[in-house]
Formats: sequence, structure tokens, C-alpha cells
Amino acid sequence: MKNVLFLLTLTLSFLLTSCNDDLEYSEKYYSEEDQEVINRHLNLPNTPYSYNIKYPEYITTFVNTNIDYDKATLGRVLFYDKSLSSDKSVSCASCHKQELAFSDDVAFSPGAEGKVTTRNSLALGSVINFRLYYGSEVFNGIPFFWDNSAATIQEQSQRTLANPNEMNMHITQVHSRVNSIEYYKPLIKKAFNTEIATGDQILDAIAEFTNSITNYNTKFDNGVAKHYKNRFNTNIEGVNLQDFTALENKGKDVYLTNCAPCHGTVAGRPGKTESNNGLYMDYKDKGAAVHAGGSPRFKVPTLRNVMLTAPYMHDGSLATIDDVIEHYSKNIKNTVGLDPLLRSNNQALKMNLTEDDKSALKAFLSTMTDEKVISDVKFSDPFIR
Ligand code: HEC
Ligand code: HEC
Repeated sequence: MKNVLFLLTLTLSFLLTSCNDDLEYSEKYYSEEDQEVINRHLNLPNTPYSYNIKYPEYITTFVNTNIDYDKATLGRVLFYDKSLSSDKSVSCASCHKQELAFSDDVAFSPGAEGKVTTRNSLALGSVINFRLYYGSEVFNGIPFFWDNSAATIQEQSQRTLANPNEMNMHITQVHSRVNSIEYYKPLIKKAFNTEIATGDQILDAIAEFTNSITNYNTKFDNGVAKHYKNRFNTNIEGVNLQDFTALENKGKDVYLTNCAPCHGTVAGRPGKTESNNGLYMDYKDKGAAVHAGGSPRFKVPTLRNVMLTAPYMHDGSLATIDDVIEHYSKNIKNTVGLDPLLRSNNQALKMNLTEDDKSALKAFLSTMTDEKVISDVKFSDPFIR
């Protein structure tokens, strides 16, 4: 099969070159030898995919949305490569599965050497925007992990690689392993114009790929974009979004009243960077309090793609979205450090959502699923196994 494909590609490029000398394809992107090495291990396109980010026009973003496709291509291979874990048993993708919006469906994910993680895997999407997204309280602050303790996406990757429960590889080990594998040579050459990639370059390539994963291709964003075009504002409270069902529109307002103060209104920042939503009276894992003091609190995660990312919370303790809604409706604990937004008269708030509110809220949360990113081949596993 590979040979047939290869022949087909050859014929195609021959046809293209013979028709028009100016065509981009007239020169091979990778040299013939490099292409052969790549083809032995990987199913990569003959010229790299574009990884540039396209945000809906109602979003003002100040991040650079140009992604270097050579670095992202290298990053994609690294992301799916089990060689990056000490016993070659897990890759980034083992715990960040594309079909689950790059999250995992177990509370704690298996890592290298038979260990398991101590927290629930976080979904990946639009992390390039985190500085902006989580910037309101800690601009240039600390946006990665459930405890917001990693300052940059590179620091996040380096710590994940080194974490004995995750990949168990110091960056120097990653460096020597990657540089000894034949299929990395052509990719490193393209990405960094060098034979041997440094540890920092390896982290940059992973970051380039992770940064390119977005989550704005949703029914919700289409609805907001149309509304924005008509009214030139992003206030969607009480507005019936176009193409939304009555239930989804109702759910939007349930969300805006009860959830948006922390999880964010439209595409902008969440209301809070980190908070305590009263899961426990007594927290075993104290989250951000461990490195920054104070009472237990955790990152307020994005709810984009939330229908794909069960189980929920830092410890994966809520199995379904119904459990989550029930938590906010009735089960919030009046714990030390509980967010004041979840208290009333010194008691834990009970949102007391009706059955109608609950199904509307669920319908609305479903509009935030990005179907494209979870099936887009450019984010998929490139290995021929
Ligand atoms: C063994 C499972 C596992 C592997 C392998 C793994 N991760 Fe994770 N990842 C997690 C868990 C669990 C968290 C949350 C950890 C925490 O907050 O303490 C996380 C968090 C993250 C975050 C932070 C997201 C946010 O919203 O703050 C990013 C980004 C990330 N991982 C990317 C990667 C990359 C890139 C790799 C490969 C180099 C990788 N992960 C490998 C389990 C894993
Ligand atoms: C006071 C702030 C606050 C409010 C209001 C709030 N949340 Fe949260 N939410 C959080 C925090 C903090 C977490 C993480 C808590 C943890 O893991 O310990 C969280 C986590 C979640 C998660 C888990 C996401 C994941 O990836 O695991 C979901 C789902 C969620 N909230 C939904 C909602 C819904 C729906 C509402 C409205 C009914 C709501 N939240 C209201 C602060 C809030």
C-alpha cells in the first residue's frame, strides 16, 4: 500500500512538474532521501499543512496567530511519539486524545513505568491565548496546570516530560533520544535548519503544535459572530442567537447568570483565573495554595468542548455533566476559601436549577463543541504503526 501511494505521489508530482514549472510542487519539499526516511515511519503530507490560527472576527486577540508549519509538524510528531517517555509506553496524546478534545476519559491517566497521574488531564485548546485569557488577575502570570503553576507552555512541557508519573524523562534524556531517531533529522532540518535540535528547540516545536490547537469552530461562535455582525457588540444576554434552538438560547441565559461570572461571558477572559467551587469541606489536593499560599483553589477551566472532556474537576471526581450541574445546583460545600460568588448569607449557595434549566444548560454547553478540531487530520496521529 505504501509503495502504491509512493508511486502515485511520484506520478502526480511528475504530472504537475511537466504541466507547469512554476508550481510550488515542482520542487520536492523534502529531499528524496529525507522523504524516504519519513515514509518509513510517518504519514506526513508532501508539503506541510498550514497551522495558522483563525479566530472568529468578533474576537480581538493580540497573540501572533501565525504558526510555523515546520515547527508544528515536528511538534505533531513529538506529541504522538511514545519515545518521549522513559519506558516508551506513553506519548502526550495518550493523555490528551484528539477525539476527546485532547483530554482523557479517566480520572487519572496511566503514565510511564505503570504510574498514574495525580490530577485529571486537562483538555487542550487555544492555550496560545492563555496569557490573554487568564490575564486579568495575573498578567504575565502563571497560566498552566490546574494550579496555574507553570509560567509558559515550554515550562509546562518540560515539567510534564520530567514528571515521574507522566513521562519520566529529563529534558537532556529527551534531547539525546530525539536526536538519535532517524525520522527527526529531516524534520529538525526544516524546522531549525540544524542537524541536532537543542532541548529548548524541542520544547518550542511541541509548543508550536500545542499552540495551534484551537476550539473556536463551534455553533456557539457562529451564533455570536452573526449577532456581532448585526449589532457590533458581543453582549448576548437575553438575545436570541441565530440558528440556536429555543432550548439552547434559554441555556445560554442560565449559563450567563450562573456560570459566566467565573467561566467567562463570551470568548473573553474567564471572570476568575482560579477559584474554589466547594467540591470538598476538606481538600486533599490544595491546588494553587501549595505554591502560592492561601486556601485551596484551582484554575477555572474553559468550558469549550466540555461535553467531550468527562470526567470533570481537578481530580476527575464528577463523572458526568449531570453530576457537575447537580454539584452547582445542590452540593456546594461551605469550605474555607469557598468563592464568595458561591455563598449566600454565609451558607453555601444552592443554585436550585429546575429540570428545565438543567436540560437547557446542557443543550447550551453542547453548542461549544468544536467538531472540526477533533477530526482534523493535521492534529492526528502521524505514525504508521
Ligand atoms: C500521563 C498523562 C499525561 C501525559 C503523557 C501528558 N499530559 Fe499533559 N496533562 C496531564 C495532566 C494530568 C494535566 C493536569 C496536570 C496538573 O494540572 O497538575 C496535564 C496538563 C497539561 C497542560 C496544561 C493545560 C492547562 O489548561 O493548563 C498542557 C498544555 C499539557 N498537559 C500538554 C501536554 C504535552 C505537550 C504533553 C507531552 C509533552 C503532555 N501534556 C503529556 C496528563 C498528561
Ligand atoms: C465561583 C466560580 C465558579 C462558578 C460560578 C462556576 N464554576 Fe465551574 N469551576 C470553577 C472552578 C474553580 C473549577 C475547577 C474546580 C476544581 O477542579 O477543583 C470549575 C470546574 C468546572 C467544570 C470542570 C471542567 C473540567 O474540564 O473538568 C465544569 C464542567 C464546570 N465548572 C461547569 C460549571 C457550570 C455549568 C457552572 C454554572 C452552573 C459553573 N461551572 C459555575 C469555578 C466556578
